[in-house]
Amino acid sequence: MLLLIQYVAFYMCVCVCVCVCSDVTGPDKDRLPNFILIMVDDLGIGDIGCYGNDTIRTPHIDRLASEGVKLTQHLSAAPLCTPSRTAFLTGRYALRSGLGSEGRVQVLLFLGGSGGLPPSETTFAKRLQQQGYTTGLVGKWHQGVSCEQREDHCHHPNLHGFSSFYGLPFTWFNDCVPGHGSDILADLQKVLRSLTLFSLLLYLLLLLLLLTSVWVVPFGMLRRWNCVLMRDREVVEQPIRVDTLPLRLLREAQAFIHRNKERPFLLFFSLVHMHTPLFKNPQFMGKSRHGLYGDNLEEMDWIIGQVTETVDSLSLSNHTLMYFTSDHGGHLEDKDATGQKGGWNGIYKGGKAMGGWEGGIRVPGIFRWPGRLPPGRQVHEPTSLMDLYPTLKYLARDTQPDRLLDGHNLMPLLEGTVHRSEHEFMFHYCGVYLNAVRWHPPGSDSVYKAHMFTPNFSPEGAVGCYHTHVCMCHGDYVTPQTPPLLYDLTHDPSESRPLTPQAEPRYYEVLEQVDEAVRRHRHTLKEHVHPEGPSAQMSWSRILWRPWLQPCCGTFPLCGCEEDAHNMTTF
Ligand SMILES: *[C@@H]1O[C@H](CO)[C@@H](O)[C@H](O)[C@H]1NC(C)=O
Repeated sequence: MLLLIQYVAFYMCVCVCVCVCSDVTGPDKDRLPNFILIMVDDLGIGDIGCYGNDTIRTPHIDRLASEGVKLTQHLSAAPLCTPSRTAFLTGRYALRSGLGSEGRVQVLLFLGGSGGLPPSETTFAKRLQQQGYTTGLVGKWHQGVSCEQREDHCHHPNLHGFSSFYGLPFTWFNDCVPGHGSDILADLQKVLRSLTLFSLLLYLLLLLLLLTSVWVVPFGMLRRWNCVLMRDREVVEQPIRVDTLPLRLLREAQAFIHRNKERPFLLFFSLVHMHTPLFKNPQFMGKSRHGLYGDNLEEMDWIIGQVTETVDSLSLSNHTLMYFTSDHGGHLEDKDATGQKGGWNGIYKGGKAMGGWEGGIRVPGIFRWPGRLPPGRQVHEPTSLMDLYPTLKYLARDTQPDRLLDGHNLMPLLEGTVHRSEHEFMFHYCGVYLNAVRWHPPGSDSVYKAHMFTPNFSPEGAVGCYHTHVCMCHGDYVTPQTPPLLYDLTHDPSESRPLTPQAEPRYYEVLEQVDEAVRRHRHTLKEHVHPEGPSAQMSWSRILWRPWLQPCCGTFPLCGCEEDAHNMTTF
């Protein structure tokens, strides 16, 4: 009798448990999560309320942080758009894909060039697509378009795993809006200045190109050729109409979420904010306490709020991992008489285009996933934008073999099941040059950073390279540091007090460990690197404009079309 009661009780328990458990996880247990990755351009870590800014209003970004996990030592793999985004998309340092630069031009310069993310590369979008995800990119790409023919689109997002693309195959930059000067001509002039007698031929060629460019600038050719909006593989607007651009991108991102609410999706929303030229939306102008830059910042925050609102209103929040970051630090040198135009990097030294100094690479990193990630948690361990690739793979249950990755799955850190980052060492590149190495010794709170060289600031005494507008990584533009310049970031996050052998007991040990780590890292670069070398995609022949590769609607070379307002996605 007793036995019978025990049996009955036991089975009741089991039943109750099964019922209760399946109530909790039941129908959604096998559901793959959605991913919304939001990347802002040139945004500084000091620009955001929840990262310590008390005069700028970013309530929507702050809300993501308070409902999720905030990373305080989140690092981009490069201090400039093109290489940082390559590393983000592939989970590997950009030079493995051939996107490390050796000279002055460190980003892709023409939409009609042939360099870009090689077709042989694998992006997280490609991996998720193989797992059955619907994948979309809305916004900026800046990873190239075609290799040999105008429409081979070998570098295009559609061929890199994004089943839908709406946005800028290039970037948002000053040439796009008349009266804001030219980023491209400035870069070309820098190039001309650096050429030696040995490259006389190339010099003459470039001069010719420059003269042609100067001649055609009044007709807005650079603007036409580079300020292009595409829907998938078709050019839908050229040049881009400025005023409606931010809203069109937002509407497209929202429409993508609506369209795919029933199935696992990946949305990479790559904003054109905060890159210059700044927008002049009357709804936000004059509202912030930090001029036009602040107004744009608050507009950007509003856009993020709209996306979050869409996710929540469709009851997708518990199934959606939202991520917020910037591709690198704010651009210190970008200011004029009207005030600040680049980002603010808070207490961190340096900015955009400085791969060694913290201000160029330490960016916001926020993950929100209600029900899965603890709200309000902070992680101070070193993490990388390259970690997204393995994290997404893990969550999409992709266990297929892969190439060597430089990132690590972040879920254990985000959920709090581990407390140490797997990044014991991190390598901070400036182009193909190893600029600094970060070491987080096991069992210690310290984070050391050794600078192999430092950029020469100009004018003297400034923090920034105001004479060249951005800092360079090579030749006379840098000062080699032997022995490396060493800082303890935990106690000196602003990198203002270099360590000395007298004051730091671990001084020699740190340098030895760093040396050893560099040796091991370089060893991996023998094999796991672009077959034509770490700068193959950034060579002159691939960077320079080729008329036959120019994406164009209408008749070349004038090219021109406007997006039909009726075709704008609505819901
Ligand atoms: C807040 O951000 C603005 C805009 O970038 C900047 O000018 C200001 O110095 C920042 N304030 C703090 C306290 O970081």
